[in-house]
Parts: sequence; structure tokens; C-alpha cells
Amino acid sequence: MPIKNRLAEMHAEITAWRRDLHENPELMYDTHRTSGIVAAKLREFGCDEVVEGIGRTGVVGIIKGKSDRHGHVVGLRADMDALPIIEATGLPYASKTPGKMHACGHDGHTAMLLGAAKYLAETRNFDGAVAVVFQPAEEGGAGGEAMVKDGLITRFGIKEIYGMHNAPGLPVGHFSIKPGPFYAATDNFTIHVIGKGGHAAQPHANVDTTVMASQIVMSLQTIASRNANPVDSVVVSVTSFRTESEAWNVIPERVELRGTVRTFDADLRKLAEERLISIATLTAQSLGGRAEVEWSPGYPSMVNAEAETQIAADIARKISGSAAVNDNTAPIMGGEDFAYMLEVCPGAYIQIGNGDSAEVHHPLYNFNDEVIPVGASYWAELVETRMPAA
Ligand code: NI
Repeated sequence: MPIKNRLAEMHAEITAWRRDLHENPELMYDTHRTSGIVAAKLREFGCDEVVEGIGRTGVVGIIKGKSDRHGHVVGLRADMDALPIIEATGLPYASKTPGKMHACGHDGHTAMLLGAAKYLAETRNFDGAVAVVFQPAEEGGAGGEAMVKDGLITRFGIKEIYGMHNAPGLPVGHFSIKPGPFYAATDNFTIHVIGKGGHAAQPHANVDTTVMASQIVMSLQTIASRNANPVDSVVVSVTSFRTESEAWNVIPERVELRGTVRTFDADLRKLAEERLISIATLTAQSLGGRAEVEWSPGYPSMVNAEAETQIAADIARKISGSAAVNDNTAPIMGGEDFAYMLEVCPGAYIQIGNGDSAEVHHPLYNFNDEVIPVGASYWAELVETRMPAA
């Protein structure tokens, strides 16, 4: 049972939707045009219920099956937002808004789920109900959390929920997934290092912030090498080192460091935060200055439920065959805000091959339209398998 015939027939139509979204990217929660198109299409398809404004600009469509025998509701989620990147693809349907670009393929995710919704509303070859979930602000705005806080799971009675993301480098038609922690928690930090500025030729008269900050940068690497259990994963990256002076002969009064911490384990996440604050403040203090740390918690680690991961992998095998499905792929230190939905509902997130394309978040990236029938068939098959019609 590979690609569903009806979805293969709809390939050109879904591709046109995808390219229209690509041409008109919107950032974060400002997905007004996109959300409007999604809601209008869901109504046109004959969804039983279309609710806008869940998580600000999020949209949910409910499609009821032939009966409610199981009383079950399966959630399928796509993200809709683009990125603040200047597109360099030169495609005929490239972004019409300079500085905004669908560089993560969320245009494709939205189009594939719309295609599946159209198919499911037409065929209704299942019992129970499907909630098709379109979320804004995946790229740093925690749109998934906003939808959960607006009652996404409880209001629609969702019992299990699934997500999907395209993966450049993975062949088209292939899937990758793993049970347990899949994407990392993504916390950010800012360290203000404060000393006493002055003439660079008189270090004894000053408290040198660049030396303090440098020592802090190096010492932070001991969190991974000396504090974390070596079998657990943690990344501490300092990504910005800014002084307030560009002169050759001035010791700056302040230095600002910025960076990110990535973990999978909740205890290790807490440990990394505590150690980072200690290292920064005590290192600065030991050198005669001080440091103030701002810790900004980001997305939690995204954890796939065991049973739903196997369900998702089985569906992928039905679509593409066993050889094309890796059900124990390596975890990723990037973040994904589908994590918030998986915190409150069992489910699983799967990667779908985008073929040999530029990496996501790159100005040359493009979602591969050949993926559309594969992804839409995965969604449709998942529903028909999980809630078989009598
Ligand atoms: Ni993405």
C-alpha cells in the first residue's frame, strides 16, 4: 500500500497550494494570510468544525469518520510559519517579501496536511475523528505551547497526536524516527561581565572584563566535559562575545556573552543551568569583577512516546517499505516545539526525506514537492489504520 491514488491525483493541486504559501511567507504569529487560507480550505473541504484563534493564529479542523464507535480522536499537526531569511533560490515562486522565507519547509508541511484533510473529508474511511492542527510560531515563538494553553488537547479530546518534518539529505520516500528523546531542550543565556574599564596599558588599575569573559567561555566547556555524565548529551555554545569598545587601547567596562545550552535530560538541563550560573558569577568574582546571568528557558526536549513511535514507524513502512524506514535514528540537538504537545498527549514526530536539498534555514533551501504524496499518504494511512471503519 504505497501512495494513495487519490492523493497522487491531487499532487499538482497541493503543489500549487505549497508554492502559493512559499511565495507569501509570514513570521511567528503573524500568519494571518496563511491561517485564513487554511481555515477557508478546511471549510471548503467540508470539515465538520473549523476553529480559528487557538494559540492566537492557530487553526484546528475536525473531520468526523463514518461513526464514533471508538470515541477516539487522532491529532495531526503541521507548522505554518517562515523565517527571517533573505531567499536566494531564484525560484519563480520565491518569496515576494524580502527578508522572509519559507526556509524550513513549513509551507510543505501545511500543504501536505491540507491535502490529507481534503482526502479524509472526502473519503471518511475511518471511525472516530481527526483533528488537523495548524500551528503558528514554531520558529522560536512557542506556538505549540500557545495552542496547548488554549486547550488544544482537552477541548478537542485529542487522544494521540503526530507531527512531521522534512529532512534534507534523507532520500524522498524515506522516514526516520526514534522513541524517547528526539529533539533537545533549547535554553539561551546572556552573561553580563562587569569590571572596571580603563587604559589598556594599566591593567593593574582596572578590572579586565575581556580576561574575565574569556575565562568564563573556556570554563563553561567543563559543564559538558566534567559535570555531565559522559553518556548523556549536553552542548554549551557561546555564540556572541561583545565588548562596548572597539579601541586597541581600552579595557572595556562591560562584556556581554550570549549562547545556548542543549540537553535531552531534565536533570541535566537543571544541572547545566546551575553550573553555568556558578561558573560565570564565581569566575568573575575570583578575578575581582562580577557577572550577572540571564537564563531564558526555551523549548523542552521533544520526547516521542514508545507505542506511538512504533505506530508511526509501521505506517511509514506501509507507505514506503521497511528498507526506507529507520525507526532508531540518532537524536538531534536542535529544538522543536511539538515538544509541548507531546508533554501533554502521547504521540510521535517523524522525519520525512526531502532528498538532496540545501539544509533547512539556508537561503537556498526549498521544500521538495515530490514529498507531497508521500507525506499526505502517511497522514491519511495513519488515520485509517488507527481508527479503522467498521
Ligand atoms: Ni522547521
